[in-house]
Amino acid sequence: MNFSRASTVLCTFLLINLFFGCETAQKPAGKIEEQKHESTSAEIVFVKDHHSYANPEAIRVTNVDLDWDVSFETKTIKGTAELSFERGKEADKAQMILDTRDLKIEKTKTSSDGGKTYKDATFKVGEADKFLGSPLTIDLPPDADRVKVTYQTGPTASGLQWLTPEQTAGKKMPFMFSQAQAIHARSFIPLQDSPQVRITYSAKVRTPKDLLAVMSAEGNSQTDERTGEYEFKMPKAIPSYLIAIAVGDLKFKPLGKRSGVYSEPSVVGKAAKEFEDTEKMIDATEKLYGEYAWGRYDLLVLPPSFPFGGMENPMLTFATPTILAGDKSLVSLVAHELAHSWSGNLVTNSTWRDFWLNEGFTTYLTYRITETVYGEKQYSMEAMLGRKGLEDEIAAMDERDQILHVDLKGRDPDDGFTGVPYEKGALFLRYLEEKFGREKLDEFLKTYFKSHAFQSITTEQFVEYLKANLLEKNPGVVTDTEVDEWINKPGLPKTAPRAKSNAFEKIDVIVKEFLAGKTAAKDIPAKDWTTQEWLHFLRALPSDLGNDKMAELDAAFDLTKVGNSEIVFQWLVMSIAHKYAPADGRLEEFLTTVGRRKFVKPLFEELVKTPAGKVRAIEIYKKAHPGYHPITAKSIDEILDSKEESK
Ligand code: BES
Ligand code: ZN
Repeated sequence: MNFSRASTVLCTFLLINLFFGCETAQKPAGKIEEQKHESTSAEIVFVKDHHSYANPEAIRVTNVDLDWDVSFETKTIKGTAELSFERGKEADKAQMILDTRDLKIEKTKTSSDGGKTYKDATFKVGEADKFLGSPLTIDLPPDADRVKVTYQTGPTASGLQWLTPEQTAGKKMPFMFSQAQAIHARSFIPLQDSPQVRITYSAKVRTPKDLLAVMSAEGNSQTDERTGEYEFKMPKAIPSYLIAIAVGDLKFKPLGKRSGVYSEPSVVGKAAKEFEDTEKMIDATEKLYGEYAWGRYDLLVLPPSFPFGGMENPMLTFATPTILAGDKSLVSLVAHELAHSWSGNLVTNSTWRDFWLNEGFTTYLTYRITETVYGEKQYSMEAMLGRKGLEDEIAAMDERDQILHVDLKGRDPDDGFTGVPYEKGALFLRYLEEKFGREKLDEFLKTYFKSHAFQSITTEQFVEYLKANLLEKNPGVVTDTEVDEWINKPGLPKTAPRAKSNAFEKIDVIVKEFLAGKTAAKDIPAKDWTTQEWLHFLRALPSDLGNDKMAELDAAFDLTKVGNSEIVFQWLVMSIAHKYAPADGRLEEFLTTVGRRKFVKPLFEELVKTPAGKVRAIEIYKKAHPGYHPITAKSIDEILDSKEESK
């Protein structure tokens, strides 16, 4: 399809609308610009994405049909990806350029009749860049409208983890899951791996007979029935980083009318109890920000090697089991991933430098959901911990990384995963709330989500929209210069809002008394402390607390044995700094069973601060490494800077 054939464009456009509903409307391929927008409603204006080789301004992929064999023996996905596309500027001359990483491309074919017949096409896999992988360039006949790639993944694909039965809770069956954000989808699908390209997808997946496959799509079974053959469809246009699959011994338990949880059988009961407020969260978010757009909302609890806390895969949030604290104290993570159903999945960052549009908005929404469902005190505690964490992080950070609209050119987009897009982004929205009032900001956000639904946007587009719809409509409240400071300058503006809450006042008094020797550890009234109160208490203790006081606290509260992942993590960081030997065993146990990068990385960083600690880090990493996800392993490799030594 070409721009000169506008009527065909329009027909297809209308057909897609009729078929999938308006929200999936695919607009014709557009032009490319370096962060500049003059988009008309008829065009998508692509910006330069430094993390993709793709050429969507000429050839824009609109749908991917996957046909996969999942093999645990070879640790590969093998099959085909059939890509439908539209043509834009100079497309007659264009080749299709896809992103790949470590894929073995067997053959490529093109079709000029909508996939009825295919003929061989020539292709070339370019040299691999260490962050971006390799471009796959396919020669297209001028009238081609589909491409079929036959390929298989590499056994160390960065976006997949293959677990042996021993690495699962049940110990009997293997497990595999994907993690595509930020640019790992290309390690299991050849595609245009840029968040500004939105696609629908379908998948036929064959697995060993006794395992269940689930995906971020329609088609997940609610009966756990295993056939070894599964079919999925995501009829709404999503960015590639939201394509996700997991295969394992999974059981399902419903949570409410449109929600449920999948996990290994021994975990599903605990998970369902922990997540019992999910339906309430969906209702609360809908009330604030408009209708939930994705039909079902299910969760998948992964084995503990999952490298993140959570991942907002549409219709099926992926989550770490380390949030199953038994008292719902860590379920704001569910609120966070659910909030992405609006900020991130409905309105998506165009490139990874606009990541704060996803995470800052989501963090703000999370606080609002937490406040609605769990009350003002819970919200205040989480917000105060968030702000303190951000301040500490900023103090030790390069200035360039303190900027919301961070420049990630030439870098791994995973480097942008800091507290800045999250907490500084959320503080910016909280600032707007304070300035314009909650009612006006809520209305603004609701309209923002609705008017940009199923679109990917840049920071510049957001700022333009903000100025036109909030600043200019309420003149004299917030200036353009203030907005510019928030988005383009390092550090936190002096006007950054502070939580007006006395939630931690009692804890602060206790810390003082404990340090002054006026209150013994055993007399601290911590019986009913929540996770957040514990975290505030531990973080308020000085780095030279001393081993006597460490031992006193341990004797009173058994901190070395605590099961709560956040509390024990904090305790282990302190234990390393203090060389507190009684926690040594627990540290090793934690690092060899949990692969969540947020915990594992700071613990290794703390260990390598001393020569003896570094020796120990290398020893522990030898044991832990086989269980780590490639994303976590990469972070630890960088810390140890001694890949060879440690394996
Ligand atoms: N989308 C992110 C996870 C992510 C971001 C993965 C960038 C890869 C690259 C997810 O929504 C997230 O923010 N997870 C947080 C939890 C949250 C409660 C702050 C995490 O995993 O720590
Ligand atoms: Zn997030």
